[in-house]
Amino acid sequence: MAKLLPIKIYPCPVLRQKNRNLKTAELQKNEIKQLILNMAETMKQKDGAGLAAPQVGQNLRIAAINTEDGVLVLINPKILIKSWRQEIMEEGCLSLPEIFGLVKRSLKVNVTALDSDGKRIRFKATGMFARVIQHELDHLDGVLFIDKAREITQGGKILEKAR
Ligand code: NI
Repeated sequence: MAKLLPIKIYPCPVLRQKNRNLKTAELQKNEIKQLILNMAETMKQKDGAGLAAPQVGQNLRIAAINTEDGVLVLINPKILIKSWRQEIMEEGCLSLPEIFGLVKRSLKVNVTALDSDGKRIRFKATGMFARVIQHELDHLDGVLFIDKAREITQGGKILEKAR
């Protein structure tokens, strides 16, 4: 059974720590399978667009993305190509409740990752899907959207400094 995991809230140090790649064999371990199920469940229950493993206290390169077709699990994901064309949009994060900011991101990205079975996948993402992927992959590098955002607000008030 999948269970709800507690979300690590900024400035929890786990959000800034190094995250390691998984070995393909590790994906067969019950502990990792359960973590992936729990991450998907937590993202859905918290209504997140995505969730990265450090947000649930695990310094592993795993991200879950909410898509129209269900939860997309990305293991050891990498962005191969980022479009030159960018777009500025407001972002938030489950680890930074009530904080929002405008972040410039590439409109399109080409991504490679392993799926939860360890199979290599490659795909293109555009628009909001591309944005969420970039946000979640930043988490895997210990980067939060407030590091890149401007006009950061908390509870509707503009913050002078967010870090
Ligand atoms: Ni986030």
